[in-house]
Amino acid sequence: MLFDEYKYFSFKFPEPQYLGAKYTHLSWINKFIPQNIKTALDAFGGSQSVSFLFKQLGLRTITNDFLNFNYQIGKALIENKSEKINTEDVNILFQESSQKSDFTLMESIFTNVFFERNESFFIDNFRANIPLLSNPYKQALAFAVMNRSLTRKITMGHFGHTQALVYASDPKRIKRNRSLVRPIKDLFLELLSKYNDAVFDNKQDSESFNEDIIHLLPKLQNIDLVYFDPPYCNSHADYQGFYHLLETYTEYWGDKKFINAIKRYEPQRYSGFDKKSEVVSSFKKLFELSDKIPLWLISYNNRSYPDILTFEKMISKYRDVTIEHKTYQNGRGGKGSVAGSKEVLFVCRPKKNYFVPKNYKKKLEHEKL
Ligand SMILES: C[S@@+](CC[C@H](N)C(=O)[O-])C[C@H]1O[C@@H](n2cnc3c(N)ncnc32)[C@H](O)[C@@H]1O
Repeated sequence: MLFDEYKYFSFKFPEPQYLGAKYTHLSWINKFIPQNIKTALDAFGGSQSVSFLFKQLGLRTITNDFLNFNYQIGKALIENKSEKINTEDVNILFQESSQKSDFTLMESIFTNVFFERNESFFIDNFRANIPLLSNPYKQALAFAVMNRSLTRKITMGHFGHTQALVYASDPKRIKRNRSLVRPIKDLFLELLSKYNDAVFDNKQDSESFNEDIIHLLPKLQNIDLVYFDPPYCNSHADYQGFYHLLETYTEYWGDKKFINAIKRYEPQRYSGFDKKSEVVSSFKKLFELSDKIPLWLISYNNRSYPDILTFEKMISKYRDVTIEHKTYQNGRGGKGSVAGSKEVLFVCRPKKNYFVPKNYKKKLEHEKL
């Protein structure tokens, strides 16, 4: 029989393809999560891999990301307790939409950039049908699985380049990665069962948010542990450049410009954590607003700005800190994860109030003189 604390570990998180995802570091991070806590916040949720670990540990999990497509994964796999996409739902998603003439964004902007016209047409039609699913959890699952399928379809797993269609007609590339020429519909059906199987109820009321973390923090209460995994400033952590297509597909923007060869949306959302000129003051705000949360875990990288020692100094105003690290064996690209770079975890606990006896204080003052 399984021990109580492992009973949700039979559920598998669908493998993400996301810059800086902590999927491969979960068992290491887990070592620093104490057992006696109830509620954990994943402040920069991204692919939701760490939130999924929190949920598996039986915690009430609050997750957040300022990008809508990540929020949808949180809604689908963290907040959702039981809703899955069944055959009837799949028929709804694939049916010819009566609204199709209002849904032409992918076809008009991204045909011949990332997709052939028939594939753009297919995903527009699918997008028109998502609101017809009977509840927000099924809808969020449809977004999560479709967005993952679109990432699979594209070479290098992001949308910051224009090589997708070139590589999709290169036999050598296709041999290495069959997904380049597989229909999006097939990729969706293959991934769907993995996402459906990852839906479970850990008997807690978890929630997914879609806000700038600086705005969300003041509204939250009774959090025991917060995990911060901000973009690694200084290491090309351009989330809105790499994943613009997924955000455009989810938002179905009507009021943006689509610029450059990759047609990324403009203006972008404000992060506060991706520019050297802003990041230090954003961290100060973040730490001040988190003061009532006792435990902080902060992921970092030895190539980030500000550097590790400066950052440690900043944190030590608020918490007692220990620094843990793990060295990358293989570079997987992105977010500083090159071979030899170090993944760092700041483990931050409430400051100990040292009691200094009166006599000892006097003795120190005397010695100073
Ligand atoms: C390093 S990734 C998180 C990766 C995540 N831990 C995982 O395992 O997939 C950083 C995330 O922060 C989000 N982000 C950036 N600025 C933010 C802000 N001001 N508020 C909330 N999320 C933000 C980005 O969208 C990105 O998904």
